[in-house]
Amino acid sequence: MRSNVSKRPNITAKLALSAFLAVATPGIADAMPWSWDMFSQPSYKAQEDLPPARPEGVVPASGRTYVKDRADSARLKSPVEPTTASLERGEAMYKRYCAPCHGDTGKGEGLVGQKYVAPTDLTTDYVQKKANGDIYFTITNGGLAIMPSYGDSVAEADRWHIVNYIKNNLVPKAAVPVSASK
Ligand code: HEC
Repeated sequence: MRSNVSKRPNITAKLALSAFLAVATPGIADAMPWSWDMFSQPSYKAQEDLPPARPEGVVPASGRTYVKDRADSARLKSPVEPTTASLERGEAMYKRYCAPCHGDTGKGEGLVGQKYVAPTDLTTDYVQKKANGDIYFTITNGGLAIMPSYGDSVAEADRWHIVNYIKNNLVPKAAVPVSASK
């Protein structure tokens, strides 16, 4: 048929190209068909064999304490002592994550705090007398009404550093009157 005749040069050209590729680039030509290359490799296929024995100690035997709700959080014990390093880290993290609303002083004068719902004053007895675990709970899960949770952006240890900072250094220590030294 005419149409076949007209295709012949095309096929001849393809064969010539393949032959050329096979000679000029043996690597590429050998690899055909390339769609199987990734499959045909000496790796384990799913379910092919039992998984290797698990080495000792790779599954953590300790974990975080489960707390049911805010009331339950008071029993959380801080694993981070309020050392100078902890307080410094806590201050830096407080300024990064909390000060935009609560302000550097903790009284709520942060730029966002001024426009948003007024944040709780962190220097009052209400907050200062709270259990550490309660403040940790607020950072992790958010406030009573509208404060967002920071559990997904502040690392666990940093949350405790922030708690240490709020409890120990956020409220300036009262200056000792000179007469008190008598
Ligand atoms: C986007 C603004 C905003 C940021 C950022 C923010 N807070 Fe708050 N926070 C609030 C507001 C508003 C309230 C009061 C309403 C509420 O409890 O939801 C509040 C309340 C609180 C309370 C009191 C909760 C209670 O038990 O009554 C604590 C403690 C607190 N924040 C700590 C923090 C700490 C620590 C950070 C930083 C990790 C932080 N907040 C970051 C807005 C913010």
